[in-house]
Amino acid sequence: MTIQQIKLPNHLKTNYLYLGDNLELMKSLEDNSIDLIYSDPPFFSQRNYTTTSKADNIERSFADIFNTLTDYLSFLQIRLIEMKRLLKSTGSIYIHLDWHSVHYVKVIMDSIFGYDNFINNIVWCYTGGGSSKKCFAKKHDDILLYSKSKNYTFNYGEVSIPYAKGTEVSTDEKTQKKYYLKSGNRYYIKRSGKILESWWIDIPNLNHNKLEDRHDYPTEKPRQLLERIIKTSSNPGDIVADFFGGSGVTACESQKLGRKWITIDISENSVNLIKARLLGNNSINEQSYQLPLNSY
Ligand SMILES: C[S@@+](CC[C@H](N)C(=O)[O-])C[C@H]1O[C@@H](n2cnc3c(N)ncnc32)[C@H](O)[C@@H]1O
Repeated sequence: MTIQQIKLPNHLKTNYLYLGDNLELMKSLEDNSIDLIYSDPPFFSQRNYTTTSKADNIERSFADIFNTLTDYLSFLQIRLIEMKRLLKSTGSIYIHLDWHSVHYVKVIMDSIFGYDNFINNIVWCYTGGGSSKKCFAKKHDDILLYSKSKNYTFNYGEVSIPYAKGTEVSTDEKTQKKYYLKSGNRYYIKRSGKILESWWIDIPNLNHNKLEDRHDYPTEKPRQLLERIIKTSSNPGDIVADFFGGSGVTACESQKLGRKWITIDISENSVNLIKARLLGNNSINEQSYQLPLNSY
């Protein structure tokens, strides 16, 4: 795949899907133009991933193979520097990784975004797949969350979860304030739900998801994960970018949640899937939805 396939936009065009190297696209975009970036890059797993979709019988593959760890980190670092430039000062960035490289990338992210702008290391837990008798089964991914300043969007109330089962909430007759009782003490509740912890165990990986939620793209992430991230760190009308588009989960969820999006992948299979997914998604009204199909 050559980069000529990208028609460089010169300015940020939203709801655009590109085919090519994300570095070329990012270099062409304006500073401080994006509200939220979700990045699910290669993990340095040194594996080839291939899946065949039951729906269309198309084989899709994605190679996560680099000569050395240093090569991998250079590949990522140069792109993370661009992402920081593109992010608005109120923006946030999520980098989705696992044990293969997250500890190295944390150090790189600290140097690019600043140690003080680190917000969370989200641990997304799942089950299923293989395991070894020589180690604990590696069943979580790490998602690093950084901001560009202290003034970032964080809609915790949009993704809060119900208080623990059995917690009976009462209302104080005089003040109308809500509280629950624990060991005889009153705990006043300021919110309608509990703020999420940084470990997420309630989103199953795609092996457990219904067929219609899966597109059989190698390393595809569940839409519920992106829904949570987008609701937390952006507002309707904001611009959400995913420069490692894969199955297009970020673009699709952004569209559903009323955000603008921009996405790219270097694989033609990926871009064809994203296009089909966006056009075929019944929640999208063809009239209000303009996918510039000639954009790649
Ligand atoms: C881990 S997958 C993303 C999966 C995606 N989050 C999903 O849920 O379907 C990484 C993707 O990055 C793409 N990719 C790798 N290097 C790239 C580059 N330089 N520019 C654009 N895309 C790239 C791969 O083709 C692959 O689809």
